[in-house]
Amino acid sequence: MSVTGLCLILFLTFHCCMNVVALFSGEAYNMICELLGANWYAVVATMGLALLALIHIVYAFILEVQNNRARGSERYAVTDKPEKVEWASQHMLALGVIILLGLFLHLFNFWYNMMFAELFPAIHYDPAPADGFGKIVNTFGNPVYAVLYVIWICAIWFHLSHGFWSAMHTLGVSGKIWLKRWQVIGLIYVTLLMLGFLVVVLAFAFGCAPSLCCDGAAADCCQQAVDCCKDAAAACGK
Ligand code: HEM
Repeated sequence: MSVTGLCLILFLTFHCCMNVVALFSGEAYNMICELLGANWYAVVATMGLALLALIHIVYAFILEVQNNRARGSERYAVTDKPEKVEWASQHMLALGVIILLGLFLHLFNFWYNMMFAELFPAIHYDPAPADGFGKIVNTFGNPVYAVLYVIWICAIWFHLSHGFWSAMHTLGVSGKIWLKRWQVIGLIYVTLLMLGFLVVVLAFAFGCAPSLCCDGAAADCCQQAVDCCKDAAAACGK
């Protein structure tokens, strides 16, 4: 579970960096989406990612069954759970299920309308499959989706705030001193990561992403330059 979990965090890091681009340029974001469209390497990477997620989920259920069996009828000798991280550790499976439900919604919103749409172009998609920026604007412009995504991101934060250091512990790279350090490093890393996702959702939900105005201005500017060239060419009689 630890290895697959860390690989999924790595994917999220890449995914977050990619999404942050949408804050600044729709054009650049769509270029990345095109690169990650239905190309063979992207499809292979998607299958690898799906396999990682599947192994992670199956192991989670196996572990839960084993833990329940080991505890028997008396599940906890001590029932006080004072710390926030402890709360997350007690509810990893429940958080995982919420994350999975959110993931289905997310894959429907984006992956199904993008990569799947390119692989199976029989249906008409609006906006076009490669227009990831348009999908972001449409999805987070809907307040229901925006709220659901915020809840989903919070659930992922709780899950990862425990999962990160727990993975390091399982891999045996944390002794007495390093356990505390991994907890702090993990908390900072995961918080920054989730803030990256959150900012994108909120910026588009409130319509204040810089890319929403700058891209339009850039397009207008280009159009004016083209018109100007045409006028100049016409004036020269060409
Ligand atoms: C601001 C929030 C997010 C945005 C704007 C966003 C955007 C996207 C887009 C555009 C795609 C389709 C890429 C393509 O097929 O070309 C995608 C796929 C995906 N997203 Fe997100 N995403 C967000 C948050 C998340 C989060 C929090 C997770 C973590 C669970 C996640 C997991 C995935 C997965 C697993 C895929 C499929 C990847 C693949 O096709 O290989 N996304 N997302």
